[in-house]
Amino acid sequence: MTQSELNEVRSEKKFFGHPQGLAVLFGTEMWERFSFYGLSGILVLFLGADIASNGLGMDTADAVAVSSIYSGLVYLTSLPGGWLADRVFGARKSVFIGGVIIMFGHISMAVPVSSGVFIFLGLALIVAGSGMLKPNISTMVGKLYDGEGTSRRDAGFSIFYMGINLGAFLGQTVTPFLAGDTRWHLGFSAAAIGMAVGLIWYWLGWNKLENAGTAPTRPLSSEEKSKYGRLVGIVVAVVAALFGLWVASGTFDPSWLPNIITFAALAIAVWYFVTIFRQAGDVSASERSGMYTYIGLFLASVVFWMLYFQIFSSVMVFVDESVDRVLFGLELPAGVVTNMSTIFILAFSPVFAALWVKLGSGFTAVRKFTAALFLIAVPYLVLGWLKGGITDGETIGLAWMVLVFLLIVWGELSLSPVGLSVTQQLAPQKLQGQMMGLWYLSLAVGSPLGGLLYGWMEPRFGEVGFFYALGFCALIAGAALAVMTPKLERLMR
Ligand code: ALA
Repeated sequence: MTQSELNEVRSEKKFFGHPQGLAVLFGTEMWERFSFYGLSGILVLFLGADIASNGLGMDTADAVAVSSIYSGLVYLTSLPGGWLADRVFGARKSVFIGGVIIMFGHISMAVPVSSGVFIFLGLALIVAGSGMLKPNISTMVGKLYDGEGTSRRDAGFSIFYMGINLGAFLGQTVTPFLAGDTRWHLGFSAAAIGMAVGLIWYWLGWNKLENAGTAPTRPLSSEEKSKYGRLVGIVVAVVAALFGLWVASGTFDPSWLPNIITFAALAIAVWYFVTIFRQAGDVSASERSGMYTYIGLFLASVVFWMLYFQIFSSVMVFVDESVDRVLFGLELPAGVVTNMSTIFILAFSPVFAALWVKLGSGFTAVRKFTAALFLIAVPYLVLGWLKGGITDGETIGLAWMVLVFLLIVWGELSLSPVGLSVTQQLAPQKLQGQMMGLWYLSLAVGSPLGGLLYGWMEPRFGEVGFFYALGFCALIAGAALAVMTPKLERLMR
């Protein structure tokens, strides 16, 4: 896009005082999240439902394993997705390609036959497409703010985050309603239509995206293309062969896969940081010190998501079993109670966006992350205390869950959109997509890590011990980050 075209776009009407391109990315991500969270809201139930109810008839443990592998992989593929944007397609095309792959994934799942083939093909396509779309759309949001202050960029990401949660709220409301207990394929169709709408919106807004993500930041040379082509071929063949051997040996147990994925994500994160630092010649000195700060933020993020993703597992069970969910004479399903978090996000995103602008650049990402860890620690300590105060069969009032979700959401708003923003800000120019992939890797590690901790703690110390342990983990991580704040901020500068 030429400078005069760029000026024309910039002088047009703004979106909440932000660049018009933000409206394009907001809408696209909203529809993508509509499809993602809509599917997440019914997947485990569909897998476990019996054949007569049009489900796949899996036992609960397998259904839970498949759905947590799926959520882990969706974030894990962000790293190769970011790499492909940096080195092959550029972020803008990657988002489009990713969206198309996701849409075909949902279409495959919507095929109304009772066969696992279309379902697993669909899930694999969604995982691959999300890796292409999710990190790169976030990188493009940051690109709209090139040359502007960090507080405005943080505010822009807070608005973008509102799009994520508007999609999450609508998806978790509409899709389960359409699917009911037997119409699963109708639910999957809604997800496919949502992604198609997102793609149309993106296509129509293409010219408003200024120069964001038009080309790869470090295109592959032709020798690199053949080298990486060979490498990918070998890795795929080795993984497929090992997997085939495992299945053929008769010892294959899908419940191991979440653990394998957690450790793979951890190993990839370590390997990735080491690689970046070893490529010292490739990044400037200031970019390297920014990366040191990023290690601290990455670890804080892992701890945060470890607590956060409990909303969909142990907290959901707590709400189901130990909360009095009757409101105006109507018993609310547990999922409706936990969906309260997306409503709070929508309500508080503009408040936090304005707060970041008001607090200015002095209230750095490190301080926001510290606040987030303390904020999320409290509700888990409260959950431990509440659970310890009741016996089996007794319930606590719904108002407690309002407090719990409010604090979780305030923590989320202090970390998640800020994390997107700071990742883009600290990423060495050549590694923007990959760094965004690294951010999502913190979710891919944190989420199943919480599951592993649960598996170890719950049989020994019960839910009470587990909730307290989570709360203390976040407190310790928050205190460590607070102590390191001056050093990390110096490195950032
Ligand atoms: N709520 C965050 C997202 O969906 C993790 O992107």
